[in-house]
Amino acid sequence: MIKKCLFPVAGYGTRFLPATKAMPKEILPILDKPLVQYGVEEAFAAGLTDIGFVTGRGKRAIEDHFDTSYELEHQIAGTGKEKMLEGIRELIEHCTFSYTRQVKMSGLGDAILAGRTVIGDEPFAVVLADDLCMGPDDGVLAQMVKLFKQFRCSIVAIEEVPQDETNKYGVISGEELSENLFRVTDMVEKPDPEDAPSNLAIIGRYILTPDIFDIIEQTPPGKNGEVQITDALLQQAKDGCVIAYKFKGRRFDCGSVQGFVEATNYCYENIYLKK
Ligand code: UTP
Repeated sequence: MIKKCLFPVAGYGTRFLPATKAMPKEILPILDKPLVQYGVEEAFAAGLTDIGFVTGRGKRAIEDHFDTSYELEHQIAGTGKEKMLEGIRELIEHCTFSYTRQVKMSGLGDAILAGRTVIGDEPFAVVLADDLCMGPDDGVLAQMVKLFKQFRCSIVAIEEVPQDETNKYGVISGEELSENLFRVTDMVEKPDPEDAPSNLAIIGRYILTPDIFDIIEQTPPGKNGEVQITDALLQQAKDGCVIAYKFKGRRFDCGSVQGFVEATNYCYENIYLKK
């Protein structure tokens, strides 16, 4: 059973400056809810209740968000506004939240390694909260947890991207096992379109087996001088231990202004107007 979910949230969010100068990118709201809360809700819906954050300087607002604000509770007690806090209250009641810091922003692989102290020696999920995923029924993590029960190895969520955008993602190639499922044979971080092994890009949802920590420790900095999780996963893939899953649902890259606006419009039409 997977219980733990890691949220690396230490990045600077430079694509959203100046909004992210003093505020974490993960607290930017899509409508009335911070990005990171959508991610934790997705984890909770998949049965993951031990939530770990890898944070950095300037990320205190995330800790405060997943804690009770007594003054606020007192202020709105007995009013209609209490309803607006129901979702976050449910998460605070049913999940635990742990925090550790990434000392230097040396890449996603390094951030995940920093999470070792909160994960320990068990399989775990990773969510990049700036990838907002909306599933038709089950969320993407719930779909992946089901697959983990079957394969018992690392799983990455993938989607097809335009060939000229491969340089924004980790890109895989693999042997097709069945519709939407591949056993990964190769993966490259942010390849130029002409070098990309396919147009199947890894998005911000992973399930990882704990041997990944030792592998990351042995992984030298790669693309952009950062320790890349893609490079570490390639080592597992060489042993046939990484499955790529074309998930059901939609993903919005909320780390970019365009993706953020698309997600806002989607949620306005599909959630807000249907309330
Ligand atoms: P991104 O590259 O999308 O996030 O990393 P960023 O660096 O914050 O954004 P830009 O490019 O400057 O606008 C994907 C995720 O990995 C985390 C980020 O917080 C983000 O959620 N991350 C990345 C870390 O926690 N540590 C790192 O060293 C790098």
